[in-house]
Amino acid sequence: MIITVVGMGKIGLPLAAQFASKGHRVLGADVNPRTVELINSGKVPFPGEPGLEERIAKAVDEELLEATLDTPWAVSQSRAVVVVVPLFVDAEGTPDFGWMDSATEKIGEGLEPGTLVTFETTLPVGTTRNRFTPALEKASGLRAGVDFWVSFSPERVLTGRVFEDLRKYPKLIGGINSASANAALDFYNAVLDFDDRPDLTKPNGVWDLGSSEASELAKLAETTYRDVNIGLANQFARFADKAGIDVYSVIEACNSQFFSHIHQPGIAVGGHCIPIYPQMYLWNDPEATIVRAARAANRAMPAYAVGVLEEKIGSLQGRRVAVLGAAYRGGVKETAFSGVFDVVDSLLSHGAVPLVHDPMYSDDELMALGFEVYHLGDPIEAVIIQANHIEYGTLHPEDLPGARAIIDGRKAVSSALAKAIPTIVLGSFPA
Ligand SMILES: NC(=O)c1ccc[n+]([C@@H]2O[C@H](COP(=O)([O-])OP(=O)(O)OC[C@H]3O[C@@H](n4cnc5c(N)ncnc54)[C@H](O)[C@@H]3O)[C@@H](O)[C@H]2O)c1
Repeated sequence: MIITVVGMGKIGLPLAAQFASKGHRVLGADVNPRTVELINSGKVPFPGEPGLEERIAKAVDEELLEATLDTPWAVSQSRAVVVVVPLFVDAEGTPDFGWMDSATEKIGEGLEPGTLVTFETTLPVGTTRNRFTPALEKASGLRAGVDFWVSFSPERVLTGRVFEDLRKYPKLIGGINSASANAALDFYNAVLDFDDRPDLTKPNGVWDLGSSEASELAKLAETTYRDVNIGLANQFARFADKAGIDVYSVIEACNSQFFSHIHQPGIAVGGHCIPIYPQMYLWNDPEATIVRAARAANRAMPAYAVGVLEEKIGSLQGRRVAVLGAAYRGGVKETAFSGVFDVVDSLLSHGAVPLVHDPMYSDDELMALGFEVYHLGDPIEAVIIQANHIEYGTLHPEDLPGARAIIDGRKAVSSALAKAIPTIVLGSFPA
């Protein structure tokens, strides 16, 4: 089978490698000439995906993978087209369909009868059927569901472990009609392998959810669930702070019961997915009070952490406060929607002088993000831990000279450090 993957990014390129590893010929369409050039020389344009470099080198060497700037040509050669071009959303979740619209139009221009187009980019419910399907029909002059097939199949993998996750999770699909669903079932069965998952209610494999809308909702629902769950954990943490209870041991105890799955509280929810997809869901369903409340609870946490610091050491006016962790979570060099921005803004609004440290970022990179840089060992008056980088578990008092308090937003600090510098873990603040 010849397959086109549109969007050769952190998700599209591993998908192309996976399809090639099953013996299919893959055409990788992208708008970035450097990306196309690198892939055609057997190289990976970005670091950090285990196993990807070897697979790409092998696929290019075996002439099973070729990248191109010419999307219509690639599509015209293919029986299946997988679309994984980003959909941008602002902090309120309002989508900007620009890149996706332009990719869809190019796909339509090359579309031949009998082709499956399957969208994997996370989308608001209804987008596959109401926006992209008519666009494909208009550009191709063909009838969707009759001359060609359209499905939505959310990408559920995490970067850094794509190949592992592709085997682990059921591949959810939903067609715009049953012929489209059948085409998507056949396609994904031909390109993926699945681990045995005795814990699932049905065999691991391709699961047809019955419609493109159900499949779109599945991705929004599984990510929104996590935001809501964290929002609840944060609410418990704030109550525990007032009541002088350690919420972490309470959550551990609760989760020993089979039906309780309370997530961990924390100073912020960041990254491309968890803070954003609930907003995309709210775009579909503005009446979703629980989702809206959880989002508000999570967004309030950075300011809450700064408030706890002020309670502990008094006015923050003019005080130098080190914020440890620019990344949205430990071990990942990514600041998309990171809590660092709100923590720094909140400190500034209290008149403090925030300085930011992150072991994964150079001084220049931190300054380019708009931060004043903190180096471990520089004099400081207080510390807020924003990301749980592994290095923060082995900090010594000499790393933070002069610190009168640490607000640990991630339960990252060692007990030895907490003994030396008064430390408040959010959610276990003694009354
Ligand atoms: N990154 C993740 O962790 C992750 C996880 C699950 C799902 N997803 C989904 O995958 C989507 C893509 O994410 P990513 O991390 O691969 O993005 P990315 O930014 O790494 O790559 C996107 C690629 O698309 C290309 N592109 C842009 N416009 C194009 C067009 N019109 N035609 C062809 N190519 C075009 C870009 O040049 C780039 O190479 C996300 O929007 C999300 O919905 C991402």
